Amino acid sequence: MCGILGIISSDTNTNVASELFDGSLYLQHRGQDAAGIVTCGRGGRLYQCKGNGMARDVFTQERMSKLVGNMGIAHLRYPTAGSSANSEAQPFYVNAPYGISLSHNGNLTNGEELKKYMDEVVHRHINTDSDSELLLNLFAAELATYDKSRVNENDIFKALEGVYNRVRGAYACIAMLSGYGIIGFRDPHGIRPLLIGERLKDDGQRDYMLASESVVLKAHGYQVYRDILPGEAVIISKDKMLPVFKQVVPLKSYSPDIFEYVYFARPDSVLDGISVYRSRLLMGEKLAQNITDYYKSQDKNVLNEIDVVIPVPDTSRHSALQCAITLNLPYREGFIKNRYVGRTFIMPDQKQRQSSVRRKLNAMASEFYGKSVLLVDDSIVRGTTSQEIVNMAREAGAKRVFFASCSPVIRYNHIYGIDLADNKQLVGYNRTENEVSLKIGADHVFYQKLEDLIDCCQRDDSLKDHERELALTPVVSRDNSIISMIARNDEAPEITGFEAGVFTGKYVTGDETSYMLRAEQARARNARRSDSGSTGMDILDVKAPSEINIFNSGDY
Ligand SMILES: *[C@@H]1O[C@H](CO)[C@@H](O)[C@H](O)[C@H]1NC(C)=O
Ligand SMILES: *[C@@H]1O[C@H](CO)[C@@H](O)[C@H](O)[C@H]1NC(C)=O
Ligand SMILES: *[C@@H]1O[C@H](CO)[C@@H](O)[C@H](O)[C@H]1NC(C)=O
Repeated sequence: MCGILGIISSDTNTNVASELFDGSLYLQHRGQDAAGIVTCGRGGRLYQCKGNGMARDVFTQERMSKLVGNMGIAHLRYPTAGSSANSEAQPFYVNAPYGISLSHNGNLTNGEELKKYMDEVVHRHINTDSDSELLLNLFAAELATYDKSRVNENDIFKALEGVYNRVRGAYACIAMLSGYGIIGFRDPHGIRPLLIGERLKDDGQRDYMLASESVVLKAHGYQVYRDILPGEAVIISKDKMLPVFKQVVPLKSYSPDIFEYVYFARPDSVLDGISVYRSRLLMGEKLAQNITDYYKSQDKNVLNEIDVVIPVPDTSRHSALQCAITLNLPYREGFIKNRYVGRTFIMPDQKQRQSSVRRKLNAMASEFYGKSVLLVDDSIVRGTTSQEIVNMAREAGAKRVFFASCSPVIRYNHIYGIDLADNKQLVGYNRTENEVSLKIGADHVFYQKLEDLIDCCQRDDSLKDHERELALTPVVSRDNSIISMIARNDEAPEITGFEAGVFTGKYVTGDETSYMLRAEQARARNARRSDSGSTGMDILDVKAPSEINIFNSGDY
């Protein structure tokens, strides 16, 4: 999982770097491992700054001031246990043809096959394990077949069609063609999110932004925005400054990854017409119903069994609050989060003194002592975090500890960009719900039913326009006069289902067993190499030293 962003401004004297930097901060939650920006200035020259670390560390004022140009793209990389340490930060770049840069969010599942094709047929060298480099080179190879000195929109759409036909997996991408414009495209299932926004300026000109989440668009005054559809692409050339859309391949399904709503996206984003915040409220409500029913079936009243609802910060807060309201129980913030936890220093001869959970969270005895508490979290992955949290609640004096998960049992790995763990490391792997309870040491674990979770992630057409935040099919601007250039003529297609393979083992792109095996091997190799015993989520804590890669340096 990653965050991607692209901006093209109608004002050729503007430098979009600062807006890209600002936008990166809104997407930081999507990837804290590495950050990068590439801009394109006069004469098609590229300026780049990328490296390991958070946006604020990589993008300093001085470095930003050297990124010239009125269009550019950015990337925030999510740590994947498979490869984060040894693969490069994005955007990736190839010089031929035309100079293409690319930011990719997602994971391809037929990378092995593509690598072979690149080697044996296209003769392009791939220098990292990153499937994004493959995707970029494939696009470049397709574009090169036209062998023209300048491409046009049709050539680009045709090239993308070639890409779509070869690639399998999840991909939301923003590409930049040097001196030409920016391009956005999304896989034919719409697994990863991508939106386009339009900002009308006082001079009547328009700027465009492509982004992973609507929150960036709104925050930057791109008031009219919409989702790119599965299989759809958009090109905005700097000369025309007019977005051209095309359904490059037919939509195979419309299946956004349900994990975006459970955990990944910011609550104030609206993705594929679904408010993340609202879906999380509903998750709390549905959980509460399940809990009430559970006690009813035992002839008990939930109010006699549970004293207080406590969220595990941060993602689950909204769900937990709504859960408490629905249960008519008090809601308390029993865990205080240390927001300054970041890098951890481990000396070679020393084991980490504290678990990463305890470094991040502290339980307040006053909220736990002598009480039966219901802890609410977004999900249970390996179970080690949940187990530690249950322990902390008990140490703080809780009488009984119940654990509620806003999502169903995670039994299978996530294969489209959130590298959770090998199947066998998931606490839900080959375990019943009760066995998970035992494993994490809770008195009982409540899980969301999958059909309930899916119910929570619905577009709600009963909402007023301002509540839907114009996310479905915006047509006119605020003053009802100007037709937006990004409007759809037709209604947004219905979502056909969700990518929920982590719960069911059935992935929208089909049987991906061999991909999962390869990913397992990659993780094992990487674990041996780093030899630190920290994997998966813990990687967030251990940052590689910052290596900033500056390419070109422009002067204002
Ligand atoms: C699942 O668990 C059962 C009982 O604990 C065990 O017999 C079986 O071998 C396990 N299956 C797998 C695939 O691990
Ligand atoms: C609550 O949800 C769990 C998880 O799917 C399910 O197994 C259980 O039957 C539900 N309980 C009730 C009472 O609906
Ligand atoms: C998934 O994608 C990320 C980002 O491109 C990449 O680093 C990683 O190697 C991919 N994982 C696998 C197993 O291909």
